[in-house]
Amino acid sequence: MNNKHDFFRRIVNKKELLTKAASKFGTPLYFIDKEEIEKNIDRIKTAFMSKYRKVKIYYPYKTNDLPYICRIIHKKKIGSEISSLLELELAKKLGVKDIIFNGPGKTEEEIISAIENKVLIICDSKEEIEKVNSIAKKLKKNIGVGIRIQPTNIEDNLWNKFGITIKYLHKEVEKEYSNIEIEGFHFHIGTQIRDHKVICKAIKNVGNALKNINKNKLKSFKHFNIGGGFGVESMSFMGKKDFFVKYLARKNPFFIKYMKRKFLTQKTENINLIASKIVDSFKKNICLQFPKEIELRIEPGRFIVNSSTSLLLKVLYKKKNSIILNGGINLVPNIIYTYHPIINISKPSIKTTHETIYGPLCLTDDFFGNYYFGEKSKTGDLFCISNIGAYNINVSWQFIKPKEKIVILEENKLLKIREKEDFNYRYKRDTF
Ligand SMILES: Cc1ncc(COP(=O)(O)O)c(C=O)c1O
Repeated sequence: MNNKHDFFRRIVNKKELLTKAASKFGTPLYFIDKEEIEKNIDRIKTAFMSKYRKVKIYYPYKTNDLPYICRIIHKKKIGSEISSLLELELAKKLGVKDIIFNGPGKTEEEIISAIENKVLIICDSKEEIEKVNSIAKKLKKNIGVGIRIQPTNIEDNLWNKFGITIKYLHKEVEKEYSNIEIEGFHFHIGTQIRDHKVICKAIKNVGNALKNINKNKLKSFKHFNIGGGFGVESMSFMGKKDFFVKYLARKNPFFIKYMKRKFLTQKTENINLIASKIVDSFKKNICLQFPKEIELRIEPGRFIVNSSTSLLLKVLYKKKNSIILNGGINLVPNIIYTYHPIINISKPSIKTTHETIYGPLCLTDDFFGNYYFGEKSKTGDLFCISNIGAYNINVSWQFIKPKEKIVILEENKLLKIREKEDFNYRYKRDTF
């Protein structure tokens, strides 16, 4: 999907279904299309697997941990990427056997549980490697681990929070450990990566670093994980100017009218091209150094789920040149950083209307934008904010109004997969 017409058509084609869901379940309502998730999985699978035989995919629960969605994904032979014990429990409950544990702050309890459950730990620092080794020793286990690498040498980058800086890699790999063997390397260098060159450069850097390591120390090496971050089409960031105007609007609401948040298309390379360049680089820089076949692993999150989900809201009130919807930005927190197209589903049109769109929260930041696709709205019109499947539902914050219900469209049927938050749900852990 590369232009606003394609995007618009895709959502408006579902007008009847979206309207039916809204009238059956009420709004606000998250609407998920199962077929979209499966289509995205098939696209990324085919893109990689048609170019390399040994590819394994892991789904990061942090992107969207709805159990129903995770189950759909696992049915496609995809493993779990987790970063906490809660996520490990979820993976176990879903019957997943192939699990990777990432994250820069694993606790002793988490490491013990990972070892006991045969989860692959990706060690994030020198100290963590030592800690995992000593815990494995105490548990009398010999285990394989992965190492997360920070594949650039830029030391003042916020991403240095993650992994071992590449220039120190050989030191850690060449050490003797009593109870662990290094069987994999991993990096994850960002999200919404639109240009394959960024990932290929990281692969090349790791390949060069591995060349300088005694191959005897790499006897157990069998998988290479390039993380996620694959850019999605049609999702557009606000322009730089919009961020600046938003900053001004905080100080003086007068500026809000200058904030456009119109449809900004940003080109993303086709996944087939990205996969083919990545596989070429992987073969050349990594595989050629080793006699046995190395497995390529990927962890796409946003790519799999983002386009599957919309939030349906109604116009509650109209004011002069502005509207108040019945759900706030806390339901789609990513909207603060990214632009999600908004359509008046009751009167769709490729033309945009200029009205300031607010949510119902007592918060000035509860503002969706100044434009929507469609004719001028009336109270009661149905609005759709689409492409919100990644980093929204599970990042949504509790504020004033309840967290909302979720339905999924599956084989032409609508199924409620999460209830709306009620009083008990919100306050059951509190002392009164
Ligand atoms: C280690 C790791 N892998 C994969 C992902 C998924 O990234 P994306 O949703 O951009 O594909 C993340 C996201 O933060 C991550 O931290």
